[in-house]
Order: sequence, then structure tokens, then C-alpha cells
Amino acid sequence: MCGIVGYVGAENSTRAVDVVLEGLSRLEYRGYDSAGVAVTTGTISQVKRAGKLQNLLDELASNPLPNSATSIGHTRWTTHGGPTDENAHPHLSFDGSISLVHNGIIENHAELARELAEQGIERVTQTDTEVVAHHLALSYKKEGDLTKALLATVAELEGSFTIVAIAADAPGTVVAARRNSPLVVGLGDGENFVGSDVAAFVGQTKRAIEMGQDELVTITPDSVTIQTFEGEPVERDEFEINWNAEAAVKGGFNTFMEKEIHDQPSAVRDTLLGRMSESGSLMLDELRIDESILRRIDKIIVVACGTAAYAGHVAKYAIEHWCRIPVEVELAHEFRYRDPVVSEKTLVVAITQSGETMDTLMAVRHARDQGAKVLAIVNTHGSTIARESDAVLYTHAGPEVAVASTKAFVAQITATYLLGLYLAQLRGNKYSDEVITYLDELMAMPDKITAVISQEDEIKALVASMKDVKTVLFLGRHVGYPVALEGALKLKELAYIHAEGFAAGELKHGPIALVEEDQPVFFIVPTPRRPVLHAKVLSNLQEVKARGARVLCIAEEGDTAVAEYADTVIRIPETPTLLHPLVSVVPLQIFACALATEKGLDVDQPRNLAKSVTVE
Ligand code: F6R
Repeated sequence: MCGIVGYVGAENSTRAVDVVLEGLSRLEYRGYDSAGVAVTTGTISQVKRAGKLQNLLDELASNPLPNSATSIGHTRWTTHGGPTDENAHPHLSFDGSISLVHNGIIENHAELARELAEQGIERVTQTDTEVVAHHLALSYKKEGDLTKALLATVAELEGSFTIVAIAADAPGTVVAARRNSPLVVGLGDGENFVGSDVAAFVGQTKRAIEMGQDELVTITPDSVTIQTFEGEPVERDEFEINWNAEAAVKGGFNTFMEKEIHDQPSAVRDTLLGRMSESGSLMLDELRIDESILRRIDKIIVVACGTAAYAGHVAKYAIEHWCRIPVEVELAHEFRYRDPVVSEKTLVVAITQSGETMDTLMAVRHARDQGAKVLAIVNTHGSTIARESDAVLYTHAGPEVAVASTKAFVAQITATYLLGLYLAQLRGNKYSDEVITYLDELMAMPDKITAVISQEDEIKALVASMKDVKTVLFLGRHVGYPVALEGALKLKELAYIHAEGFAAGELKHGPIALVEEDQPVFFIVPTPRRPVLHAKVLSNLQEVKARGARVLCIAEEGDTAVAEYADTVIRIPETPTLLHPLVSVVPLQIFACALATEKGLDVDQPRNLAKSVTVE
């Protein structure tokens, strides 16, 4: 979690603070408990404030920092120490020589603090970060060189970290190091940048370099020098950032979430683009697994968390059906603690928007340690999970800023369909013409999603009567089941309303006891072209209706049977069964977003959450 920016410009440049603040505004989705910025002009000056970035901006408006060419900034998601001004980053060393920002957790901070105390240096904050500033200052005194001092300091640290630091007497230099936390370098003309992700500097440059695990970078206005923690020089190619700065702003919508719901047709379309080779076969983005190994796999385990895990549930139905390979779906944080049965014939599929979720990263590492191959479905280029996996399939959803996932979810589902079809083709379960038929059906999905979004006014109209409901239930069968789970999660995290998703068949085994007069129950109704499945859901629908529930159905156009029992029907276009989630989830996203807005809640940054969960 936490967003980090560092900037260094030409000696006479005065824009360092502005560049860093702009970067922080784009990174605020990573954490918004506090924000701070520091500059060096021969001495270090810094301002930090608890709460959202606006509090820092207000403070800087009345008490501006001195003009400087060198600056660092931070937007925080709290781990150690409450969200106070004092605990906000940057942290200044005891002697004022060093200021630094940090993302991650320093696991041995207590031990480091004890060592400092023996030298008479006491902590003034409750954070794990502060001790790093003091240690770096001591090393700097000894080494006389900021890069060498940071190398010596990281050698003492345990845990996960991205650290970005400046020294009072070294304007024109920013140093940064990473272990298990993200860091990218932005390349400018006579200026350079570092950031937690490319959003930190996408408004300034389109050229970037990924930083590897256990690497350190020193940037000056004219140079970028990367080395490993062992001091070995690293040469790395730059890449072009294909997210434009506008993609990271709201595009005319009131909230990022509304914008991202509307981005979904293009998220699906872009994820499908360019997947066919000239020979007519499907391709992955990065494949570091021999195809003969993929032909031999006998089990797939999907590891993911939250919404991404629900995308994995959908994948199970599609991949098992198309490839006849058993698929398990496991919450990443449970995976390694249950001693999973994994072999070199297991393909572990990690699904993650950020590519930085610590629980998923640890599951990936555990799977690889056990000899499994890992294929990652990731939205963020250069992220840790993408780098550490044997193969990568990128979702091209673009930056997802709202904390609650929407467009990343449909892009993840789309990517899992591509993976299923890729494996089916590779292993001979499907002929290429069959794969092309499925791809054509997938290519039709963006327009179908647009058709659902076009009914948003009718969906929003539902919320006026729902503002005070205490519980909402979501029921679905087959691929409608993970959609029900996702509908419930969206409502919980956005509108702070208790919500439960159930497999509709489970209803009579207990949850039906919750149903009382006027209890809102959403049904994700399967296509009537699957009559058995459809009929079963209709029975469930009648069971709750008979007990006085308010029934809201997401059902296909032309499904006349539901109208008799439903209080409200939201229509989705006719869609092949396995592809249903791409359209049926959309009304639930719109509903949750609208209900949260109706309740006056912060849709983009719900309480207690952060976009990228980089702690276990
Ligand atoms: C919910 C949501 C989370 C994430 C989960 C995994 O709206 O966004 O449940 O899906 O934290 O995050 P990633 O996909 O970044 O690994």
C-alpha cells in the first residue's frame, strides 16, 4: 500500500513540489490516511498532514515549501502507528540530514530501534519507518555517499519495503530501493522520477524502467544508475507507458468508479485485442513455460483474493468445461497454510489487478517452491507478481483508481476465458474453428455490456427505496453464483450494508431463514436456453417470493417467465451461458455505486480499504 513519488530536476528547476504533488494526487488511491512532501535545498524542509491529500495541499497553500529541484512525497495507508501528522511520511532523521518515505513493513524495526536507543537516539513516532531514517543518517555519516549509505542500510532491514530518500546536503540526488514492494523509474529530459507505479509520473513522461527485486536506483537530473543490493550494476531496457494521463482522471464522471464502470466495454475489448498469431492461434503475453509442460498439466489451482478470486470462480466453470482439467479456486492467503497438493503437473493461476497483493504474491512463491508453474493474470505491467511468474496474461483494463474493483474484474474474467481457450487449443480439446467461434462471441460482449450500462438510470432509480435496508441477499447458480458473491461484496464495501451472496441451491439449507417481509433479494437468472438450470432458479425465486421478499432479477431479454414473480427485472442481452458474468455483474456494480452515492458515502475511497493490499 502507500504511494511514493521522488523527483529530481535541473539545478534551477523550481517545480519539484508541484511534480510530486501531482504524482501524489494520482497515487492517492493507494492509501489516504495521510500525505507529506519534503524538499532539499541544502537543508531539508517538509510538511505532512493526517487525512487526505487535500489537507496537505491546504497547509502548503498557507505555508509553502521553499523552491527546490529535489523532492519526495508519500500518501499513506496505515500499518504501524495511527494516521496522525506525526506518523505521516516523510520521516526526518535525528540530525536532520535525511528524509525518507517508505511503503511496506520493516519487520525488525523493534530491534533496530533498540540499537538506536543504545546510541541515545529515541523514536518520536510509532512507525516502523522512522528507524530507517535514523539508520540511514548514521550510515550516511560513515559512508559520505547517499547510495552507499542506502546499500548499507537495506542490508540491515527485514521485511518488505520501497524506500525513497534525499539528503540535506545532496540536492540533485534521489535514491530508492525495493524489496517485495513496487518501484518504477520515470525517464525525463534533464529530470528523472521514481514512483510506486507509473501513475506517479505518467503526466510528465511516457518512458519508464522497471526496478527488480532487491535493487537500488540513484537518480540525478541526467542519470539513472541501478544496482543490486550486492552492488552489482544492472542494465535494463526502458519501456513505453501506454496509459495516458487522461486515463487516470475521472473523464467527466463524478467518481472514478462510475467512470470505470463505463470503461468496461473497452476493458474487455482491449483485453481481447491482438491475441491471435498470424497462424490463427491464441497467444499469451509472456510465456516462460515450455508448451509441452502445459500440455501435461493435470490440475489448475487459481489463487487470488476478493473480487479477483470471484473471477477465478468463473474461470473454473469455463476452463473445466473447455479443457476437461480439474480447477480449484483458493483464497491466496489460505493456500499455503493448508499444505496444498501441488506438483510439477499443477498450473497455478494467480489473478490480480495490482500484481502487488502480498497474499497472492506469497501464494505464487509458495507454489513455485513446490515445483508448480505459475501463470499470472495481471493488470499492472512490471508488477512483482508479473515479474515472478512463469507466464503472464495481461488484462488491458488500464489504471483502476476506485478502490472497489469493477473494470479489472470483467477484464480478469475475459483473460481467464482466453486462458481456457488457449489451453483447450494447445491440448487439442478444441479445434481452432471452435476457438474462433468462442472468440467471436467474446468480441460481441463489449456491445452487450454497453447495452446494460445504458439502463443505468433505471437501476439507479431503485436505490431511493433501499437507503435504509439492513441486509441484501444475492443468489445465483452456476456462473451466477460468483456474480452473486461479487454483488454482495460490492454492496458491503461501498454502501456499508450487510450483504450475502449464496448459491441459490443452498438457500433451503439455511439462508432462507433470513428471508422476511420486504427483504431485498437479487437473483442472477441463467439463460432460459439452459432450461434445467433456469427452472431451478425460478423455483428458488418463488420460494423467497412466497415468504414476502422483494425480488429483483437480472434476467435475459425475452425471459418472460421471471416477470411473474419478480418485483423488478433488469434486462441483459442474450448471452452464452459461460459468458454471462460479463453482463450480469454490471447492474450490481451500478446498484452498489448508486446506493453508496445516495447514502452520501465516498464511493472511490471507502472506509478502511486501500487499493493495493501489500501486507499479509
Ligand atoms: C474489491 C477489491 C478487492 C481486490 C483484492 C485483490 O472490490 O477490489 O477484493 O479484488 O484486494 O486485489 P488484486 O486484484 O490487486 O490482487
